[in-house]
Amino acid sequence: MGETPAALAFDAVSCTFISKDDPGQRYTAVRDVTLAVGAGEFVSVVGPTGCGKSTLLNMAAGLLTPSSGELHVFGQPLRGVNARAGYMFQSDSLMPWRTAARNVMAGLEFRGVADAAAQADEWLKRVGLGGFGDRYPHQLSGGMRKRVSLAQTLVLDPDIILMDEPFSALDVQTRQLMENEVLDLWAAKKKAVLFITHDLDEAIAMSDRVVVLSAGPASHPIGEFRVDLDRPRDVAEVRATPRFVELHQAIWDVLREEVLKGYRQQLAA
Ligand SMILES: Nc1ncnc2c1ncn2[C@@H]1O[C@H](COP(=O)(O)OP(=O)(O)O)[C@@H](O)[C@H]1O
Ligand SMILES: [Mg+2]
Repeated sequence: MGETPAALAFDAVSCTFISKDDPGQRYTAVRDVTLAVGAGEFVSVVGPTGCGKSTLLNMAAGLLTPSSGELHVFGQPLRGVNARAGYMFQSDSLMPWRTAARNVMAGLEFRGVADAAAQADEWLKRVGLGGFGDRYPHQLSGGMRKRVSLAQTLVLDPDIILMDEPFSALDVQTRQLMENEVLDLWAAKKKAVLFITHDLDEAIAMSDRVVVLSAGPASHPIGEFRVDLDRPRDVAEVRATPRFVELHQAIWDVLREEVLKGYRQQLAA
């Protein structure tokens, strides 16, 4: 019997953007990234703004093809859109002309699932929005819209969940509620999660493993830390534990210089 393949694997993946106006202008965002997320594992990737986090996530979703290297999904080479993955982006991706329930239902309808409405209803309840199914996105708060997005992603029962700074626009309290909710839902189903964030506290509080990316260009993992904090975790409470503080210190030691580099690059740009 062979080893169980990772849910998601980047194998020596690079991505170079070529300017449409001037093909001589190239920018290598990420270079030679090798990184795997096991089935049921929660992995966060942290790195300074502009280092290539979204680029990695877009490649994992199959929305962007690597310039070199390859991705594997449960052992199979990824070609085209990643059908095993559900994703949640930084900005809302709700359809403003559809109610919350019909937003959650959309993917199921597209797949021709018969009881789409009942499943959507069930998921709205699970994310604390029972009774809000008839509301339109503009009638919901930012936190509620995020919950709808979460239900929309999870209702499809993806084996891999890709999240790109999903809660960065929320206030601290709402954000912590959502983080705890995601952890509860994850604990119940144990899907593979690739969670992108620039917030180290969030990364540690949520994850089994934190991967640190270098500042760009040619960003790549420069550190990897196993988070051995007990679960279930409360993201607010866990931050006060000595082990959290220790991990934070160790990871920040690696991340600090990259954040400064990223900051200097932004000033120079
Ligand atoms: N389509 C694109 N064309 C050219 N450059 C891009 C494109 N997408 C991203 N980049 C550049 O690649 C780098 C990484 O971007 P991104 O992955 O969005 O960073 P992050 O998500 O870490 O903030 C940035 O310098 C960005 O300007
Ligand atoms: Mg990004």
